[in-house]
Amino acid sequence: MAGLSCRVTVALLGALLLGAARLPRGTDASEIVLPPGSSITVLIKQGTPDLPAKPCYIVVSRRHLTVLFIKAGEKVVVTFTCQNPEKHFVLEIQKNIDCVSSSCPLGEIQLQPSISALPTLNRTFTWDVKGSKSMGLELQFSAPRLRQIGPGESCEDGVTHSISGHINTALVRIGTFCRNGTVSRIKMQEGVKVALHLPWFYHRNSSGFSIANHSSIKRLCVIESEFEGEGSATLMSANYPEGFPEDELMTWQFIVPAHLRASVSFLSFNVSNCEKKEERVEYYIPGSTTNPEVFKLEDKQPGNMAGNFNLSLQGCDQDAQSPGILRLQFQVLVQHPQNESNKTYVVDLSQERTMSLTIEPRPVKQSRKFVPGCFVCLESRTCSSNVTLTAGSKHKLSFLCDDLTRLWVNAEKTISCVDYRYCHRKTYPLQVPSDILQLPVQLHDFSWKLLVPKDRLSLVLVPAQKLQQHTHERACNTSFSYLVTSSAPSHDLYFGAFCPGGSVEQIQLKQNSSVTLRTFAPSFQQEASRQGLTVSFIPYFKEEGIFTVTPDTTSKVYLRTPNWDRGLPALSSVSWNISVPSDQVACLTFFKERTGVVCQSGRAFMIIQEQRSRAEAIFSLEEEVLPQPSFHRHNFWVNISNCSPASGKQLDLLFWVTLTPRTTDLPVVIIAVVGGGALLLFALGLIIYLVKKKKKKMNKGPAVGIYNGNINTHMPGQPKKFQKGRKDNESHVYAVIDDTMVYGHLLQDSNGSFLRPEVDTYRPFQGPMGDFPPSPPPICSRAPTAKLTTEEPPSCIPSESESEPYTFSHPNKGDTSNRDTDIPLLDTQEPVEPAE
Ligand SMILES: *[C@@H]1O[C@H](CO)[C@@H](O)[C@H](O)[C@H]1NC(C)=O
Ligand SMILES: *[C@@H]1O[C@H](CO)[C@@H](O)[C@H](O)[C@H]1NC(C)=O
Ligand SMILES: *[C@@H]1O[C@H](CO)[C@@H](O)[C@H](O)[C@H]1NC(C)=O
Ligand SMILES: *[C@@H]1O[C@H](CO)[C@@H](O)[C@H](O)[C@H]1NC(C)=O
Ligand SMILES: *[C@@H]1O[C@H](CO)[C@@H](O)[C@H](O)[C@H]1NC(C)=O
Ligand SMILES: *[C@@H]1O[C@H](CO)[C@@H](O)[C@H](O)[C@H]1NC(C)=O
Ligand SMILES: *[C@@H]1O[C@H](CO)[C@@H](O)[C@H](O)[C@H]1NC(C)=O
Ligand SMILES: *[C@@H]1O[C@H](CO)[C@@H](O)[C@H](O)[C@H]1NC(C)=O
Ligand SMILES: *[C@@H]1O[C@H](CO)[C@@H](O)[C@H](O)[C@H]1NC(C)=O
Ligand SMILES: *[C@@H]1O[C@H](CO)[C@@H](O)[C@H](O)[C@H]1NC(C)=O
Ligand SMILES: *[C@@H]1O[C@H](CO)[C@@H](O)[C@H](O)[C@H]1NC(C)=O
Ligand SMILES: *[C@@H]1O[C@H](CO)[C@@H](O)[C@H](O)[C@H]1NC(C)=O
Repeated sequence: MAGLSCRVTVALLGALLLGAARLPRGTDASEIVLPPGSSITVLIKQGTPDLPAKPCYIVVSRRHLTVLFIKAGEKVVVTFTCQNPEKHFVLEIQKNIDCVSSSCPLGEIQLQPSISALPTLNRTFTWDVKGSKSMGLELQFSAPRLRQIGPGESCEDGVTHSISGHINTALVRIGTFCRNGTVSRIKMQEGVKVALHLPWFYHRNSSGFSIANHSSIKRLCVIESEFEGEGSATLMSANYPEGFPEDELMTWQFIVPAHLRASVSFLSFNVSNCEKKEERVEYYIPGSTTNPEVFKLEDKQPGNMAGNFNLSLQGCDQDAQSPGILRLQFQVLVQHPQNESNKTYVVDLSQERTMSLTIEPRPVKQSRKFVPGCFVCLESRTCSSNVTLTAGSKHKLSFLCDDLTRLWVNAEKTISCVDYRYCHRKTYPLQVPSDILQLPVQLHDFSWKLLVPKDRLSLVLVPAQKLQQHTHERACNTSFSYLVTSSAPSHDLYFGAFCPGGSVEQIQLKQNSSVTLRTFAPSFQQEASRQGLTVSFIPYFKEEGIFTVTPDTTSKVYLRTPNWDRGLPALSSVSWNISVPSDQVACLTFFKERTGVVCQSGRAFMIIQEQRSRAEAIFSLEEEVLPQPSFHRHNFWVNISNCSPASGKQLDLLFWVTLTPRTTDLPVVIIAVVGGGALLLFALGLIIYLVKKKKKKMNKGPAVGIYNGNINTHMPGQPKKFQKGRKDNESHVYAVIDDTMVYGHLLQDSNGSFLRPEVDTYRPFQGPMGDFPPSPPPICSRAPTAKLTTEEPPSCIPSESESEPYTFSHPNKGDTSNRDTDIPLLDTQEPVEPAE
């Protein structure tokens, strides 16, 4: 073997000293041994270009030849007559591998005979693998991977792989490849021929690829390209620049790192004349909802794709007369995303326990139009179109998306109180964390689920800036609103949308609720400083919600009942605590004349109560017209309580409050301010008289059921619903209502006969004055409160009340007497103590 290595050295030297013809390289003998049964043949022939200045011959056993063919089982010693045979001759080594019969030696492909045993000529090793028709074969190329070259191009180092296959008997060229590229695998069907060209000065001892069998690929071939970083690949259809075989299918697969994006562009193509079917390309793109995405070759091809994708070229049945030509040369460009680039965002949820955040595609109308992938990547590795970040860890995000407005963020956080003793009066901020605000994706919803122990605690929301309720009349124009919903076991109650810049100072919610900050415009990012809401756990109360409203002098305050459009839920009650500055008069106006509610059972009521005087006016919402605009000099309550309405006859109320500077000559105010003056008494007496007269004309059927038994407020911590007896003289100043005047018509028993109301009793409501909203009245059995004016015995008279004026009943002196009662309006069949 010493001679052998000597020859190698000499050859190497020759490579280094090209053209140094004095070296006796050509005269060294090579012994070529082809083992029997190896299916290897070797051909030495004159290459092109031949330089015939000085002829050169192959010398075998002293014979001079211009071509030499060696078969398996032969052993030949070869020398040349010239010193630079590589300029004259080339070497072709062919090995046939038969995979149709049983023996199919696959795996790592060896160079056989080894390079060192061959003369230093340009060498082409050809492996011809024959498979059965349905057999797939997979060529795997170790790094460096392959780069396809077009016609007329050559490889820098002169090493080329030419790959071809068969369709029946016709040879199909798949392509010619250099050693420096992205193609890692080529799958063929039926058989494959690989020709590896190594120039004479190139001393590689391995083929650099292996062959494996594979299940049927059901197409001409599959070419797999794997990108490890930014880069591009130019690829061509089979037989390029000649025509793609008729009615064939060829697929390219692309493996692209998650943090990069791929774009396809067609550099040149031609289409043939199709008789049947259509020539097209089809893509499988991760995240696309319309895979396969089908394109014509003329179309603009997809770009900015994240993730692995594949592309197939489908031919057609060509017109036999004028087939035309289908061919395609295209480029895949893989690069860092251009717009929201490769920036990394950190969302730190490590301090959170009950928060989760989802970045997901906005819902869009499905269309066949191609949309490039739009992805969120975690740690730049795993990309997905819908990512959920969980509490307890820190997340690193990047985005792969041409248009980030296609995504939005939804987040949810739960604030719950398990032990009321611990949470009572505790306050929590409802604030979108800055980590979410800094994301390049718009926040859609941030929801806080607020959970309280049943019947123990309620909630109060206090905004940093007073809120405006969104109504048709005054729509929110901010970039975000708070949507407030409480979740009762039987129904969800939507309180409405509230945005900063209004008059609502706080919202009290009876039970488990959710507050959702919803954004409506990307400008939220700039306006985010206007958010700010705190929630506190407060003692339980029984109304669904209480709004505290402090109007300002500059604008109308529009307010509407919860569940607008769907109607206030059955048997629920809501109150508004409306403040009136001392130098102003508030005007309360209702939008509609009537509510349109029809009760199936129970009664729907509205109570308007002056907080200072406790004077109340009660309106049946079912029958009466809503009050005319009324003026209020002091803080007042509006309480609306629903019955069980007939379906389709829901209770919706819209009203507004305006402030005007206080003047003394407002006639309507007088009613509210008179403190027992005879004039008023006379006036009221007159009113009642008139009303009564009018009502007498009507008779009404039996009243139904208990009136809103579940909604009365009571002071937290006072378990008893009703207590007689009086204690604590200062703490209970109750409203006194002349039932007969305002809702006496309801005092009707089930037989349809009127109950005779008791006189000179009072109906305490609850809590210290001003602290709690008025409670709705009970049904018929309810005893009237202090009798005000007339001598006439009060009676239960149905009301027609079209023209009933807006009135306040007025408390008499007895009002200040007290009772330790919290639920005043139920269980009142028994006689009540007379007032003093
Ligand atoms: C040998 O290969 C090289 C590079 O591929 C080529 O330039 C040269 O012409 C070839 N020689 C012959 C004799 O074909
Ligand atoms: C690989 O190919 C690229 C062109 O695609 C070329 O710029 C580069 O020099 C080549 N590298 C080697 C080692 O051949
Ligand atoms: C090829 O050459 C390398 C060294 O360059 C050697 O390690 C390896 O064993 C050789 N392989 C064959 C099949 O001769
Ligand atoms: C590959 O060949 C082996 C042995 O020839 C056979 O057992 C195996 O099933 C083949 N696999 C496929 C995918 O054709
Ligand atoms: C291929 O298409 C190009 C335009 O894309 C056209 O100029 C050329 O003539 C076509 N070639 C053939 C053979 O149809
Ligand atoms: C193309 O990609 C799709 C989806 O990943 C896959 O179902 C299909 O098998 C692929 N086709 C080929 C030929 O690789
Ligand atoms: C970046 O986005 C803008 C608008 O969204 C678009 O007009 C522009 O073409 C994009 N640039 C790149 C390089 O994708
Ligand atoms: C981000 O992209 C730029 C080009 O768009 C590139 O130069 C840079 O290396 C990338 N950074 C990272 C961390 O990938
Ligand atoms: C995203 O994932 C979440 C959780 O798996 C799911 O609730 C949501 O519907 C998904 N969004 C889309 C647009 O698929
Ligand atoms: C509120 O939610 C908590 C926790 O889910 C539950 O225990 C409680 O019963 C709910 N309250 C009501 C009134 O449903
Ligand atoms: C939003 O409405 C308020 C009044 O409700 C007005 O003062 C303000 O200028 C409006 N802002 C915009 C941006 O329209
Ligand atoms: C009603 O509103 C006034 C003024 O905002 C406030 O002082 C009072 O405490 C409120 N009452 C209740 C019961 O919330």
